[in-house]
Amino acid sequence: MNGPAMRVAVIGSLGMLGQDLIPRLEKAGFEAIGLDLLGSGSSRLDITQPEAVLSLLKTLSPELVINCAAYTAVDQAESEPEKAMAVNRDGPAHVADACAALAIPLVHLSTDYVFDGRLNRPYREDDPAHPLNAYGWSKWQGEEAIRSRLPAHLIIRTSWLYGVHGHNFVKTILRKARAGEDLRVVADQFGSPTWTGDLADALVAMTKGIQTEGPAVKWGTYHFCGGGYTTWHGFAQAIVDEAHRRGRLGAVRVSPVSSAEFQGPARRPPWSVLDCRKAAAAFNLTPRPWRQGLRDMLAELFHIEA
Ligand SMILES: NC(=O)c1ccc[n+]([C@@H]2O[C@H](COP(=O)([O-])OP(=O)(O)OC[C@H]3O[C@@H](n4cnc5c(N)ncnc54)[C@H](OP(=O)(O)O)[C@@H]3O)[C@@H](O)[C@H]2O)c1
Repeated sequence: MNGPAMRVAVIGSLGMLGQDLIPRLEKAGFEAIGLDLLGSGSSRLDITQPEAVLSLLKTLSPELVINCAAYTAVDQAESEPEKAMAVNRDGPAHVADACAALAIPLVHLSTDYVFDGRLNRPYREDDPAHPLNAYGWSKWQGEEAIRSRLPAHLIIRTSWLYGVHGHNFVKTILRKARAGEDLRVVADQFGSPTWTGDLADALVAMTKGIQTEGPAVKWGTYHFCGGGYTTWHGFAQAIVDEAHRRGRLGAVRVSPVSSAEFQGPARRPPWSVLDCRKAAAAFNLTPRPWRQGLRDMLAELFHIEA
């Protein structure tokens, strides 16, 4: 990289994605400043507090903000929608206002759950949103808040995210399989599992694009997820098969169930596969098949466990 390292503020740095993003940004030569609700000292930031967002970003003077902070408890959001709205709609609005005041761009993460799943092809960025649950609504409202405030934004929708940090589907399936619990998993919802490592690499590529292209960047909404698609049942079976192949688990069979049998508080789209060609073309990305991301994540997880 030529010249001084670009300063990038990462909000939500202690989350599943944030923790994989910071080291990758640093490895690529950027100066990454992590901020989170439970950060210590000047790393602490609550995005629901507009004055705090503006004053901290002013003090830190980053050249780019990446917002990974969110309220991500999909089922819990049904019983506390106002909390989800405060973090997922108002938070991004405050961050976008601060970025506009400081004349810096914003990269923001969103979700496949802005769609209702009735389409019979992968969703493109301009397909109409119609969220089925409170979390999806709050994330959609957050997207709209950014679009109306700050032209220099990238909104990156992703899906079925998992990584070595925090709680997620892969770690839950492994824990249950190891405990000998019966594995019954929904087989009629289709989507694309996405490893936080792959998404973080894509965000680094976008950051490089912003650094080199400056105002010529094609701002707007993009999709990024693991290549191909499966069901939650197919994903669970792949997790236990890969763990078995690596000698970390006996042979385990996952039973398919329907979403009607397994209805939680939040409705989920039956089909939320995202078409990622726009991001691939704009940022020169080659999305990897979702199974490759799973293999790399499990290799990292088993390495940490060893
Ligand atoms: N997880 C998925 O399957 C999935 C799928 C599609 C899209 N996404 C999107 O991808 C992004 C990253 O998700 P993730 O799974 O990495 O999320 P995560 O693990 O829940 O991390 C989010 C981080 O934001 C923090 N946070 C919450 N409220 C905050 C506030 N008011 N101010 C500052 N920080 C706050 C959280 O702190 P606490 O933990 O202390 O609350 C947490 O450290 C999010 O935009 C999410 O909507 C996720």
